[in-house]
Amino acid sequence: LDNGVMRTPPMGWLAWERFRCDIDCKNDPKNCISENLFIDMADRLSEDGWRELGYVYVNIDDCWSSMERDENGRLQADPKRFPGGIPKLSRYLHDRGLKLGIYGDMGTHTCGGYPGTTLDKIETDAQTFADWEVDMFKFDGCYSNATEQEKGYPLMSKALNATGRPIGYSCSWPAYQGGLPPMVNYTQLGEICNLWRNYGDIQDSWDSVLNIIEWFFRNQDVLIPAAGPGRWNDPDMLVIGDFGLSKDQSRSQMALWAIMAAPLFMSNDLRTISSEARSILQNKMVISINQDPMGIQGRRIVKEKSDIEVFWRPLSSDASALVFFSRRTDMPYRYQTSLSKLNYTTGSYKIYDVFTDKTMILKDSTNFVVSVNPTGVVMWYVSAPSKLNRLQFYRGGNVQ
Ligand code: GLA
Repeated sequence: LDNGVMRTPPMGWLAWERFRCDIDCKNDPKNCISENLFIDMADRLSEDGWRELGYVYVNIDDCWSSMERDENGRLQADPKRFPGGIPKLSRYLHDRGLKLGIYGDMGTHTCGGYPGTTLDKIETDAQTFADWEVDMFKFDGCYSNATEQEKGYPLMSKALNATGRPIGYSCSWPAYQGGLPPMVNYTQLGEICNLWRNYGDIQDSWDSVLNIIEWFFRNQDVLIPAAGPGRWNDPDMLVIGDFGLSKDQSRSQMALWAIMAAPLFMSNDLRTISSEARSILQNKMVISINQDPMGIQGRRIVKEKSDIEVFWRPLSSDASALVFFSRRTDMPYRYQTSLSKLNYTTGSYKIYDVFTDKTMILKDSTNFVVSVNPTGVVMWYVSAPSKLNRLQFYRGGNVQ
């Protein structure tokens, strides 16, 4: 969607995967869906180096609202859990250079059973979010049928635009249509949404991450042309820093989300995150690959019988990224190949290993070996040797 925002994949934090629909503020005040949770995360984003790297969105998901609309038919935040209302939160975030995202549902109810946005409420709700100075809106699709969705998703896009406030628009529509043509029309999605969930919800496990990776790369020929500046496929949140992924698996999620030009929404507890997870999420080179201004989504180029796979993404300044990924579960695998086998042709390249910070020069014809840990990756930034270090170009932030 060409509304001026999200010209590179949006980055930030989203409550759902980690905090779900915990509304028990009496017994679990630190973790319940309340203004305090979002204020805590905003503080962490602005004080722990996240914001400068581009993680600027703080996104509310389901279970934020009151069970009833107000007397004017408007959505309202739960008064106990959000005593200052949503405007207080957006002010708090904007004062700190952050942005606020909110959640709604095209249908009678949200997936968690809160009031939804039926067709007759679309304009009211779009205006409410704009009045609250919200910067992003995720429109889920529980409790509606295909005909209602067909009308509702484009109508919401129009209604948001009509408010005059640039609001990033995240559509869950394709996930409800099965994610693939002919049910999904990716040309239309790119015109009405800034990002869209194509597939099921991520969970805090390697199984879930692997399943998502498999779906997105199996269908890459359909998905890659759909993506570009202002329009992104969304394989769902980063679960790095939670309970389910090892260090190697965390690196794999980060590397492959960067290859996919995926939105980077962490769903974790930034108050207690380990330094290991933090350093993966704050890796400048991976972020700069994710945020490449050309916005071309990468692809799987090799799938070996040995369960090693190679992924490639073209980047600006005649550069590219390579990821060597192992699905094996036995021991580090020594994978031998050469750049020419990976379709590189023109002489020598400078290689920067994203997770070890090592550099080397490689000729296209030279055979090399990479040792890839089980369920892990080796990730390279590949450039012509004469090119300046990519980090000199990287500024962070994703809003033009
Ligand atoms: C759906 C969405 C999730 C989350 C929940 C909230 O399952 O796909 O991302 O928003 O609803 O109930």
